Amino acid sequence: MNKPTLQTLVIFGGSGDLTFRKLLPAVYNLYASGKFEQNLQVVAVGRRDMDSQAYRELADKWIREQSRFKTDDTLLRQVSERISYYRLDLQAEAAYQGLARLLRQEHADSRLIFYYAVSPSLFESITKGVISAGLQDASVILEKPFGSDLENARQLNGVLEAAFGRDKVYHIDHYLGKEMVRNILAVRFHNAIFSGIWNYQHIDNIQITAAEEDGVGTRGGYYDQSGAFRDMVQNHLFQVLSVLALDEPGDMDNGGLQKAQLQVLKSLHPIDPWDISHYLVMGQYDGYQSEPKVRPDSQTATYAALKVLLDTPRWQGVPFYIRTGKKLDRRETEIIIEFKRTGPDDLPDLLVIKVQPDEGIYLRFNVKTPGEQGSLLPVHMDYCQSCNLRNYQNTPEAYERLLNACIQGDHSMFSQWDQIEASWQFANQILQAWTEAGQPLAGYAPGSSGPDEAKRLLTPEQREWLKVDVTLE
Ligand SMILES: NC(=O)c1ccc[n+]([C@@H]2O[C@H](COP(=O)([O-])OP(=O)(O)OC[C@H]3O[C@@H](n4cnc5c(N)ncnc54)[C@H](OP(=O)(O)O)[C@@H]3O)[C@@H](O)[C@H]2O)c1
Repeated sequence: MNKPTLQTLVIFGGSGDLTFRKLLPAVYNLYASGKFEQNLQVVAVGRRDMDSQAYRELADKWIREQSRFKTDDTLLRQVSERISYYRLDLQAEAAYQGLARLLRQEHADSRLIFYYAVSPSLFESITKGVISAGLQDASVILEKPFGSDLENARQLNGVLEAAFGRDKVYHIDHYLGKEMVRNILAVRFHNAIFSGIWNYQHIDNIQITAAEEDGVGTRGGYYDQSGAFRDMVQNHLFQVLSVLALDEPGDMDNGGLQKAQLQVLKSLHPIDPWDISHYLVMGQYDGYQSEPKVRPDSQTATYAALKVLLDTPRWQGVPFYIRTGKKLDRRETEIIIEFKRTGPDDLPDLLVIKVQPDEGIYLRFNVKTPGEQGSLLPVHMDYCQSCNLRNYQNTPEAYERLLNACIQGDHSMFSQWDQIEASWQFANQILQAWTEAGQPLAGYAPGSSGPDEAKRLLTPEQREWLKVDVTLE
């Protein structure tokens, strides 16, 4: 039997929220589900002064809290022993020599994977540090958002590809690892009732909502530079859109899926700058400017709603409405597909794909009202994926699935640079038009459903934002 390849995951930002809440629990879950044979080690790199022992104690606490498995003390100790902490100022290029010495002494036989779990503003400094220390024979996983605009993303991509090589760069978009986003493909392509009607002849519009109840919390410094559009729309929600709208790939593997997604992103219909107010609404929740680390006069949007059209034969004239925001009335990511009405008085059929926190599918359709003639009753059928605890525990979480894919060298669940470039091209154009038009930010109350102005994207077309209050059972 082949000796398993040793791998060392070096996490820049190893003392950050993402690492504690998602990455270390994902490593534990992978061990717990038998994915590794003691062959993954973790070096967490942070700025805080702490030794490996103190770090492990913190890591243990987070793993116990966040793991999808009930933690097993023996396994946790074994995993914990494979985690160490290294203190480094990521902006001090010379300091990477010390990291290189450590990796050469203690991880000499390992394949290196660098995870950039930091603000994107540090991506370039880290890459320079890694190159100066001669560590570029490695794979690299990058968090979103990749770049702050098209030009910056291109420049950054040039630096990264020159350093590591294109096939070693993994752009993470954890939405692509989410169970129900993967499930869109199964629903679309493995059901005759849906595959034949997934087009403009039968679908009236599609709505994608990613609502958050929380505000910016402690992440104001990062978020204020980024805002709702760059943080959510340009990456996660455009990726979801591309999965919903793609033409069936001839070959799901070997890059076929990514090519089909790219075609969608390239076919986003350009928006006339003079007409921008009919396509984009941005808002800010009341009180945002007083949040920690947010500029008191900040004009950063915490809410974005937009309408896009696709120039493809399948989707001619079908609007896709996308909205996301912080401090809203609910925490929910869902997709609603509204089918065309069969008659003027019929309620439209709806297919609702619930992505988080509930995972499942809901279908609303019409039947005859019992005992009455000529009257219809909307009824529903649903499938709750997250209701069954056993199912849920057996379902790997997004970061777990993506980390494992990178370790296996599988690119199929990651966004490709071409896709990122195409979505930046569209995002740049739309953001520029919005700025040039001097569009004001719409205010909204925390705990509301967002600014009223978002309705103006749909009302001229006699449509409305849909909210389907369902509890999946
Ligand atoms: N948090 C999430 O749930 C989440 C989800 C999706 C994507 N992301 C993405 O993940 C990235 C990180 O987010 P986060 O929430 O984990 O941020 P965070 O909690 O603010 O963590 C930032 C990390 O960067 C380190 N750091 C910052 N400047 C440094 C420097 N000069 N030298 C060394 N270390 C430095 C911090 O170290 P110290 O704390 O030791 O100072 C900390 O470990 C972002 O790109 C974000 O968009 C996060």
